Amino acid sequence: MPETVLVTGGAGFIGSHTCVELLDHGHEVVVVDDFSNSSPGAVDAVMKLAGRPLTLHHADLRDRAALDAVFVDHDINAVIHFAAKKAVGESVRIPLDYFDINIGGTTALLRTMNDHGVHRLVFSSSCSIYGDTSKVPLDEDDPAGPTNPYARTKYICEQLLGDACVRYPEMSVIALRYFNPIGAHPSGMLGEDPTGVPNNVLPYMAQVAVGRLDELPVFGNDYPTPDGTCIRDYIHVVDVADGHRVALDHLDDEPGLRVFNLGAGRGASVLELIAEFGRAVGRPIPYRMEGRRSGDVPMLIADPGRVERAWGWRTTRDLTAMCEDAWRFQRLNPSGYPAT
Ligand code: NAD
Ligand code: WQD
Repeated sequence: MPETVLVTGGAGFIGSHTCVELLDHGHEVVVVDDFSNSSPGAVDAVMKLAGRPLTLHHADLRDRAALDAVFVDHDINAVIHFAAKKAVGESVRIPLDYFDINIGGTTALLRTMNDHGVHRLVFSSSCSIYGDTSKVPLDEDDPAGPTNPYARTKYICEQLLGDACVRYPEMSVIALRYFNPIGAHPSGMLGEDPTGVPNNVLPYMAQVAVGRLDELPVFGNDYPTPDGTCIRDYIHVVDVADGHRVALDHLDDEPGLRVFNLGAGRGASVLELIAEFGRAVGRPIPYRMEGRRSGDVPMLIADPGRVERAWGWRTTRDLTAMCEDAWRFQRLNPSGYPAT
């Protein structure tokens, strides 16, 4: 059934890919974004790719009057809530901003949804809530143990969503805990365009490949893994977007809060990722070994079984596709989206 979906943070990396997926499947899309970590160029690319428009509201999620106006203007059936700050290191430096935007933004959204009788929500959660763990793979019943303010905001939001569902039994909320989303739309028109020096490994190596940065620092080669570098469960951003579209279809299966991992269920080391990305680029990626980055754990891999059992859903795109698609976007857009 076509729905009118509010996508908060719809201009961001995962949000923009999800908007394309929703438009391609006949949904109407309303985006609220303040462009604090994205650009209107991403929204233009979404509309170009999908061949039809979405409605854009340039607003801060915490602006209750602006958010209320969005719900007055549109007959919203469901919300996908991406808008948040997401840099772990930054969250240690400016935790109050993270509390304000990630938790305050979520409560502002919940209040406005409640005021307008909208009870269906898909929430962006994160594998980071599992914290410093050596268990492999991780399933949704494993204990949470967030180790930094960013991860804590995601865990607190999951908990407050659970509490809200108890008070309002008509609510249906799906929290998706993504592992490491990378890649880009295969068209090369949509991808990851972080502001400043990238924190994450794939956008960093993509900027090395395009000559914007000299070489990739590899944080630690003395971990208890086969090649000594950390292993992560990389998932193609188009699979993440598809997972949201499918989650929307399952919101009415049952009320209350449900939590699902979104991951591939297999891992790649930093050196394996460098080698795969080098194959996509056609030449080796320059890198240098550095010491461990504080807070990194050796291995994080999802048990993707719950979502597969519930919805028959699994990832379909491999590491080669992730690297080839990310490189296509970076090659075609060496300086990111054009300023509009
Ligand atoms: P992103 O920064 O590219 O996208 C977030 C978007 O939200 C941006 O467009 C930003 O401008 C917007 N935004 C931020 N604060 C806002 C506010 N107060 N009001 C309105 N808009 C606001 O990040 P992303 O990688 O697309 O991540 C999306 C969501 O997924 C986030 O909640 C993030 O915590 C979560 N997540 C991301 C990853 C990852 O590795 N990318 C992994 C797990 C979870
Ligand atoms: C991956 C691997 C680094 C940069 C983060 C968040 C997590 C979630 C996903 C939001 C690690 C190594 C990195 C570099 C490197 N996001 N690395 N050189 O830390 O697994 O997860 O994104 O929810 O919360 O913490 O991702 O891409 O930063 O790092 O060697 O320049 O690459 O040490 O082993 P991470 P990442």
